[in-house]
Amino acid sequence: MVTESFDPVRLSLTPSTDAELRRRFIAGMGRTTGAVTVITTDGTAGRFGQTVTAMMSVSADPPALVIGLFRGAPVADAVRTNRCFAVNVLGVDHLDIAQAFAGQGGPSSRYRFGEEWTSLRTASPILTTAPAAFDCHAEQFLVAGTHLLIVGRVVEAHATDTTGLTYVSRAYGHHSPLPA
Ligand SMILES: Cc1cc2nc3c(=O)[nH]c(=O)nc-3n(C[C@H](O)[C@H](O)[C@H](O)COP(=O)(O)O)c2cc1C
Repeated sequence: MVTESFDPVRLSLTPSTDAELRRRFIAGMGRTTGAVTVITTDGTAGRFGQTVTAMMSVSADPPALVIGLFRGAPVADAVRTNRCFAVNVLGVDHLDIAQAFAGQGGPSSRYRFGEEWTSLRTASPILTTAPAAFDCHAEQFLVAGTHLLIVGRVVEAHATDTTGLTYVSRAYGHHSPLPA
């Protein structure tokens, strides 16, 4: 599906006219628990961050992952130019960051990177207190409907022993293990 070239590959998805299926799709996705991350980037296109649940591991050899960004989001254009991004997996103490980078805290906090942000191998901001963070070169791009899928080659990673923040049914929370 993806190629070696930098230009985005366009997945040919024919439009759907089934509004009821769209509604059921959105309802189902709303019931799907996601790990909350902030995707960041920095470089010639500027510094941006956005709250995102569309992130998954792709490969351990080499370490690679994929993220999904709305094509209209400023961060999507910036990653294409900067050619790097970081995935910051948020913890239960990062609710304010999740809301700010989702645009829920107003314009003043939208792209505010405080003292707890640093960088590793690329210029992309890394949250020092995140349960996990992955610094990536943006390698391949795939346009799929409204979204841009970006394959990142992980060039640095770190993990801390803190509980991750989740999102399901329009509410933030955390994983609670069942008794064995
Ligand atoms: C919990 C949560 C998960 C989100 N996941 C994604 C995602 O996977 N991809 C994406 O492009 N936007 C995602 N968004 C939306 C963006 O963070 C942001 O809210 C949206 O682009 C509107 O930004 P704006 O206020 O700057 O227009 C998510 C938002 C929230 C609150």
